[in-house]
Amino acid sequence: MNSRRDFLKAGLIAGATYSVVNGLKVNAQDASAGKTATGAPMLGFACQPLETVRVGVVGIGSRGGAMISRVSKLPGVKVTAICDIEDAKIANAKASLARQQQPEPKVYKGPEAYKALCDSGDVDVVYNTTPWHLHVPVALAAMNGGKHVLTEVTSAMTVEDCWKMVETCEKRKVHCMQLENCIYGEIEMLTFNLVRKGLLGEVMHAEGAYNHDGRHMANDLFPAYQYWRYDWYRDHAGNPYPTHGLVPLCLTMDINRGDRMDYIVSIDSKNVAFADFMEHGLNPNNPRKGQTLKVGDVNTSLIKTVSGKTIMLQHTVSTPRPYSRIQTVQGTRGIICDYPYRIALEGEGKYYYGSGAHDWWDEKRANEIRETYKHPLWKTIGALAAKMGGHGGMDYIQDARWSYCLRMGLPLDTSVYDLATTGCLCELTEKSAGNRSQAMDVPDFMRGAWKTAPKMDVIDIDLVNFEV
Ligand SMILES: NC(=O)c1ccc[n+]([C@@H]2O[C@H](COP(=O)([O-])OP(=O)(O)OC[C@H]3O[C@@H](n4cnc5c(N)ncnc54)[C@H](O)[C@@H]3O)[C@@H](O)[C@H]2O)c1
Repeated sequence: MNSRRDFLKAGLIAGATYSVVNGLKVNAQDASAGKTATGAPMLGFACQPLETVRVGVVGIGSRGGAMISRVSKLPGVKVTAICDIEDAKIANAKASLARQQQPEPKVYKGPEAYKALCDSGDVDVVYNTTPWHLHVPVALAAMNGGKHVLTEVTSAMTVEDCWKMVETCEKRKVHCMQLENCIYGEIEMLTFNLVRKGLLGEVMHAEGAYNHDGRHMANDLFPAYQYWRYDWYRDHAGNPYPTHGLVPLCLTMDINRGDRMDYIVSIDSKNVAFADFMEHGLNPNNPRKGQTLKVGDVNTSLIKTVSGKTIMLQHTVSTPRPYSRIQTVQGTRGIICDYPYRIALEGEGKYYYGSGAHDWWDEKRANEIRETYKHPLWKTIGALAAKMGGHGGMDYIQDARWSYCLRMGLPLDTSVYDLATTGCLCELTEKSAGNRSQAMDVPDFMRGAWKTAPKMDVIDIDLVNFEV
């Protein structure tokens, strides 16, 4: 079977389509009926292959606008519907599709118009790039309308909302995937590959972050309702954006795949850099001038997993500093870090016990490792992704992967359980930080199924099928 068309034909003739899911054979029809024998029925969930993936985009601001131009270049994907509350955003999206000679999409306009889009027959997938407070209502409407949903980070920010996402997904038997593009970052995928191949030995600790000076965004002169990030910072402490730093580490460390996060402790620094900026850094006519924000300048959390691993997670959007997701992974044979990329392996990866790794490897040796152990997905479409762009290509790889999986009838790379276990940390970090760093239990959204869940596969795209 050489092409996706052959694959589709074979599946239809045989009357059943099988997907190999992390080493397990899943019958797509059984899987879409949710018939699995674990406490996490959406684990390994796959659907019948879609000939063309019809996408409806809700929220076409900076992220949704970029997504439309990226996704409409993917084979087998059509943006058939768009939804926003502003005419200008709708006009931009239409112009972008017209430039790419794509058919005109159906337009939904208004604060609740997403409901009609989710109920319509126009789309298979709802791509949710709305502000944080709309992620859950839009995702629930999509699932209840029988649509798959791909939803931006942070996809659900309270324990209750995370359970709602899990329960609705399980009831409606559709995909619900968090759009965590950083799992497709080149260094994140390299790290995953090195750990799978045993070069770092057994992993016991990792560090991740969203450390990004975002103060300038407070100076954009939006209408008041578009200041949603600052409304959140005004009303909440803790870490509102845990997933960029954390989800790639979870995949590398088998979280929800043999291990799970047990509890988290969190601490907020005082807010002085943000306060100074809100007082002195804003334009004179900015309505937020002088506003008090609850968010700390630096939030730091520690997570302990059931098997005994630890993760340090950080968040700052208000201090003058270079961007970093940290991405340190530490094992019994060595360590890898990003920002900048560095690596040190004991005994050059051979088992010289106790010889140590006292210095970072020099650039030449570090780059040899980077090339030799590049993740297969980056080897396959890394060059194309770098050309297509989006955070150095990882956005393109993300969109290429979910569309490929839907067209091939494969499970998506992360599930609603990954969404819930990481999203709920927004509430848990806020509660812990507000209560002298009291330890907070992370709910078991998989109800025990994590114990036997297979590890993440080394994923790839078969270009023969991708280009059909
Ligand atoms: N993964 C990443 O790397 C990444 C990067 C940037 C942003 N994001 C996430 O993407 C999401 C959007 O961020 P953004 O920077 O594009 O924000 P934005 O404010 O530029 O865009 C939000 C859009 O939603 C629209 N909108 C508001 N209310 C609506 C409603 N009721 N119905 C339909 N549309 C509505 C707004 O008009 C706007 O066009 C956020 O969740 C953010 O965290 C992710």
